[in-house]
Amino acid sequence: MPKILPEDVQQYIRNLIPPRDELLSFMEKTAAEKVVPIVEPEVAQLLYWLALSHKCSRVLEIGTGIGYSTLWLAKAVIPVGGKITTIEINKPRYDTACENFRRAGLVENIELIFGDAREILFDLSGPYDLIFLDAAKGKYLEFLEKCVDILQPGGILAAEDVFMRGMVISGEIDKRRNKTAVSRLKDYLERIIQHPQLETTIIPMGDGIALSLKKQNEINNRSVTGR
Ligand SMILES: C[S@@+](CC[C@H](N)C(=O)[O-])C[C@H]1O[C@@H](n2cnc3c(N)ncnc32)[C@H](O)[C@@H]1O
Repeated sequence: MPKILPEDVQQYIRNLIPPRDELLSFMEKTAAEKVVPIVEPEVAQLLYWLALSHKCSRVLEIGTGIGYSTLWLAKAVIPVGGKITTIEINKPRYDTACENFRRAGLVENIELIFGDAREILFDLSGPYDLIFLDAAKGKYLEFLEKCVDILQPGGILAAEDVFMRGMVISGEIDKRRNKTAVSRLKDYLERIIQHPQLETTIIPMGDGIALSLKKQNEINNRSVTGR
């Protein structure tokens, strides 16, 4: 599968990121050892930067994992008195995330929900300033309209791994069961690009991250291209 960024470019950017604290470094190490998926540090830093620059105080994450990206987001959100809600379906990962939030001293500020986002998301009303979508890639399209609905105008929907290890670009599918997910991701990307309430850009970082801004109002919605 093709690398999204040349190895040397990725490494150069990664080396410029300030050293992480003890807990984040420990999480990076254990994720690598136990092959647990977490965002790359440069993607985590981009999320942090987005939350910081947009002064986000209400954040929703779909797909907590062990809480690595949550803790990066927390660095931007907690100092402004904000709160993060995050959903995880896998019990061992949920338990590990619980422990990591406890170690970070952030259990009061992070609402960690155990369960399936296919149900839980539809009970949430928001509004959120930032939604980070990082769960099963084949489900992004299913979550899209609800995410747009509960996103504050001016808020950001960030979807991770949209190139799915390069398969979305190359069309070379590694396993049969990934065929549907790749096809749905392509549909997701087309949908967010054309969505009347969103302005989207795709960043070739990590495994591809799609950033969609919810337009402010009807005037913004009438673009110069007449879309
Ligand atoms: C890539 S990992 C998340 C990594 C995490 N965001 C980070 O960077 O530290 C994706 C997670 O989404 C969870 N997941 C997948 N489908 C889900 C669903 N329907 N509801 C909730 N969580 C889900 C998986 O169990 C997995 O832990």
